[in-house]
Amino acid sequence: MAQRIGALGNVALKDGRSVMIRNLRDADREALATFGQSLPKNDLLYLEQDFTHPQIIDHLVDGVNAEHWRQIVAITHDEQIVGYTAALRMPGWSNHVANIQLIVQPAYRRSGLGMQLAQAIVEEARDFGATKVTVDMLAALNAGQAIFSRLGFAVEGQLARHAIDRDGNLHDIVIMSAFVRV
Ligand SMILES: CC(C)(COP(=O)(O)OP(=O)(O)OC[C@H]1O[C@@H](n2cnc3c(N)ncnc32)[C@H](O)[C@@H]1OP(=O)(O)O)[C@@H](O)C(=O)NCCC(=O)NCCS
Repeated sequence: MAQRIGALGNVALKDGRSVMIRNLRDADREALATFGQSLPKNDLLYLEQDFTHPQIIDHLVDGVNAEHWRQIVAITHDEQIVGYTAALRMPGWSNHVANIQLIVQPAYRRSGLGMQLAQAIVEEARDFGATKVTVDMLAALNAGQAIFSRLGFAVEGQLARHAIDRDGNLHDIVIMSAFVRV
């Protein structure tokens, strides 16, 4: 069972900085595009979606009111987006399952923001009726696995050479999941 501890609002990070965690808004289009551009090439290679692509940014922002999708950002006092997380409800017979994405800007890593965002999005997924949450990530990415393990997620499977990065290299994917208290 995933723990129930997430929340939106102002959060203090371990390094003394603070950010606001709130739902993505229409007005965030430019800030989200800037966030995408700020991500290092190494991250962009491995992300499921290309955050540098204007059409992807439009797609995300156009989805702010979608019933099957919740998107949360971490915003600094000067309105910069430094973290993004989303829960997308699956179609058809997996309609009770929400798939999570999570990314934090490098300058804000290791200060607890990833954990705060992960908690918040699990809570959002529960609020919109998901009873199971999943996250897929490259098997080689330890940070994401550490965060979701702490939240009570377990590895449910591994898919061999299932992702291809933007340089054409193949990678194994780990699927982690948790059941959510309703
Ligand atoms: C995964 C990611 C979101 C973590 O964000 P973060 O803000 O650095 O995470 P936190 O500071 O909350 O770290 C929580 C815990 O994760 C683990 N962790 C974080 N970064 C780590 C790293 N580079 N190596 C090993 N463990 C790590 C630690 O156990 C850490 O706790 P600690 O700092 O008390 O030791 C960030 O590294 C990222 O955006 N990576 C690229 C995208 C990605 O892999 N997303 C995950 C799958 S969708």
